[in-house]
Amino acid sequence: MATFNLLINGQKQQVDVDPSTPVLWVLRDHLDLVGTKYGCGIAQCGACTIHLNGVATRSCVMPVSQVGDQPITTIEGLSEKGNHPVQKAWLEHDVPQCGYCQAGQIMSAAALLKDKPNPKDTDIDAAMNGNICRCGTYTRIKAAIKTAAQTG
Ligand code: FES
Ligand code: FES
Repeated sequence: MATFNLLINGQKQQVDVDPSTPVLWVLRDHLDLVGTKYGCGIAQCGACTIHLNGVATRSCVMPVSQVGDQPITTIEGLSEKGNHPVQKAWLEHDVPQCGYCQAGQIMSAAALLKDKPNPKDTDIDAAMNGNICRCGTYTRIKAAIKTAAQTG
């Protein structure tokens, strides 16, 4: 066990966990931030995507010991009122079906638009490639990202 001081969604959080604990489980089991989902645990599905220092990161394979002072943003902290341009576009396009993958999709899309406010199709495909949706919402995800790029 070790003590880690983390900055999550703008708030300081202290946790006592094994240093190898993935950030996903620190969030879900220790801080009750359950918007970030567990899908595969091996960086293959994107359900657990968070922002680490603004970069889309698979939290299921990121040991808490590697976070240091890099700020973490989860779906709960992406916007104060669920009104990030990506979240608004998601609503407009009615993107989710079962919803399980969607927090990860939104976090990947938000990171993309922060880096590339006007992404080409190939940019969207590259950024979203690792986010799997078993319900097949890919067409609406792409349309929503384009709307968010226009309105953000
Ligand atoms: S749960 Fe992390 S990528 Fe699948
Ligand atoms: S909305 Fe069901 S897995 Fe993506």
